[in-house]
Amino acid sequence: MTTYNIAIDGPAGAGKSTIARKAAARLGFIYVDTGAMYRAMALYFLRKGIDRDDEKTIAEACGSINISLHYKEGVQQVLLNGEDVSGLIRTEEVSQMTSAISVYAPVREKLLELQRELARTQDVIMDGRDIGTCVLPNAQTKIYLTASSHVRALRRFKELEEKGQRCNLEEIEHDIIERDYRDMHRDIAPLKQAEDAVLIDSSQMTIDQVIQAILEAVGDKNPEDGR
Ligand code: DC
Repeated sequence: MTTYNIAIDGPAGAGKSTIARKAAARLGFIYVDTGAMYRAMALYFLRKGIDRDDEKTIAEACGSINISLHYKEGVQQVLLNGEDVSGLIRTEEVSQMTSAISVYAPVREKLLELQRELARTQDVIMDGRDIGTCVLPNAQTKIYLTASSHVRALRRFKELEEKGQRCNLEEIEHDIIERDYRDMHRDIAPLKQAEDAVLIDSSQMTIDQVIQAILEAVGDKNPEDGR
């Protein structure tokens, strides 16, 4: 059986994970959040006190890391050497470390095969930075989801406020721009729109409108026909 793969790429805070999770539920696909895998690796290096610029030690440490995914009631959990670290990887410190260490080839190679294997064996919506361009170049539907940095910062600001965390909008926007720059300008698998990806700018769109646009893009290439 050929599986149906949907690739969603885009910059930080574009809403990829929220949208991909909901679209996956609508389609009955598995949602694969590849950012969580990179985040789990970053957490490992942070815990070990490894410097983000120490490429040699990071490359060596990759051999001691095992990342796997589990699904609890349909929600992805990421395991780092058997420990569920899903609740520990969403801090700003981890975000910045993740963007810094994801430039290194050994880090990316570690996760590439696992990501491809998941997509080979089941229908997936996979989100990240290099899914349409590198991980799943043959995905039947590719989406590049973006929004202005200001809108993305505002969304993040509101999210943090709702959790009762004090934050500064300008700082958040600055961090987002910094992370975008690093993700787009690295040598290996930089973030860019795949030539055959559908561009969706969600700056002025609701979540439901974006999901609808994705379902339409999939409908153009009916999953049943793609098999
Ligand atoms: O999607 P996210 O914010 O959880 O991703 C965190 C970082 O991980 C992002 O800044 C770059 C890196 N990443 C990557 O290099 N390739 C991916 N496919 C997914 C994430």
